[in-house]
Amino acid sequence: MISRRDFVKSASLAAAAPLSLGQTPAPQRAPAVMRTVRPVVISDYSGWEFKNGGAENAVQRAFRLITDGQDVLDALIAGVNIPELDPLETGIGYGALPNANGVVELDASCMHGPKKRAGAVACLEGVRTPSLVAKAVMEYTDHHLLVGGGAQQFARNMGFTVEDDLNTDTSRRLWREWKRRVDPEHWLDPNGNERKPKPKHEKDPGEEAAWQARAMAAGRSMVRDGLIPEGSFWGTINCDGLGPNGDLCGVTTTSGLAWKIPGRTGDSPILGAGLYVDNEVGAAGSTGRGEANLYNLSSFLIVESMRRGMSPKDAGMEALKRIKANTIESRLLNSKGNPNFNIRFFALNKQGDYAGVAMYRAGETKFAVCTENGAQVLELEPLLAGTPED
Ligand code: GLY
Repeated sequence: MISRRDFVKSASLAAAAPLSLGQTPAPQRAPAVMRTVRPVVISDYSGWEFKNGGAENAVQRAFRLITDGQDVLDALIAGVNIPELDPLETGIGYGALPNANGVVELDASCMHGPKKRAGAVACLEGVRTPSLVAKAVMEYTDHHLLVGGGAQQFARNMGFTVEDDLNTDTSRRLWREWKRRVDPEHWLDPNGNERKPKPKHEKDPGEEAAWQARAMAAGRSMVRDGLIPEGSFWGTINCDGLGPNGDLCGVTTTSGLAWKIPGRTGDSPILGAGLYVDNEVGAAGSTGRGEANLYNLSSFLIVESMRRGMSPKDAGMEALKRIKANTIESRLLNSKGNPNFNIRFFALNKQGDYAGVAMYRAGETKFAVCTENGAQVLELEPLLAGTPED
């Protein structure tokens, strides 16, 4: 291992040595380590909040393993396994809020900067740690993304435990509350609290859209009533890290939108949307309304903006502005004409600069960082004042 100063000195001496006519320059041996940087791990607030009964949260574990010399992606995945396995985290892995049929369906992706490899799963049922299945897709197959039954069969073949049901009593109880809010005629409150059933109409072409709007409204009303944290409605942890050799990796794992239409896949497993890493430039990932991110491939946009020299914060703001400009449907706008949803980005560049930005500083307002100075939470930088509900 050579120091950066020695590397710069030997490189400039080599450049200064004159060659005689016809002499072929001797091939320069690349130093084993081109640069030494300070390791950093960043994530959304789930990387701080959950410890699954242990002593460390996700950013602390990932940082410790990175500085112990583990592969950066292995360390990040070991970190996000904490909220994936924590039954109290209702947006990720075991105990996450299920789809409209009451089934927990999970999405995840991971990207290894130096290896330039990635893997992902979508709509995976029965495996508590989809991030590890995504890594197995990356390591053991020529593919990037496996979905549904195929992803589950792959997980089984790879030796993962596949369970019948990843619900906990809490996620089941919350699903029943959601059912009562969307279908009060059939789902009654056992405590006897009556809800006025909506009149049932004949089937009409707009019925499905109306049902979807009602389903979303019921989910949002549960957030407003404090029954589920806003962070759990859209689920998700994104965690990105920089190792001492300048290696960049990232992972995103989620149950996606609570009470989603079965089969709905969000941004998390889609490269360029919920996650993107370029080992020469930086890493970015997201939480929040996945559809907005899918329409704009924001993580890719952030990494490309950093490539052009933008700071992580400016690159994140650029992506938020793009989403705002492309959100034009009235059903997605609040009374101020701004997006009626939140979305957050976490960006880290090759130099170890990082940022957490959000459409609004509302709901979950912080993100987590771990450096040599320890783990801390920092405020997200908002693009817009106010809240999605304004
Ligand atoms: N960002 C998570 C999702 O929308 O699925």
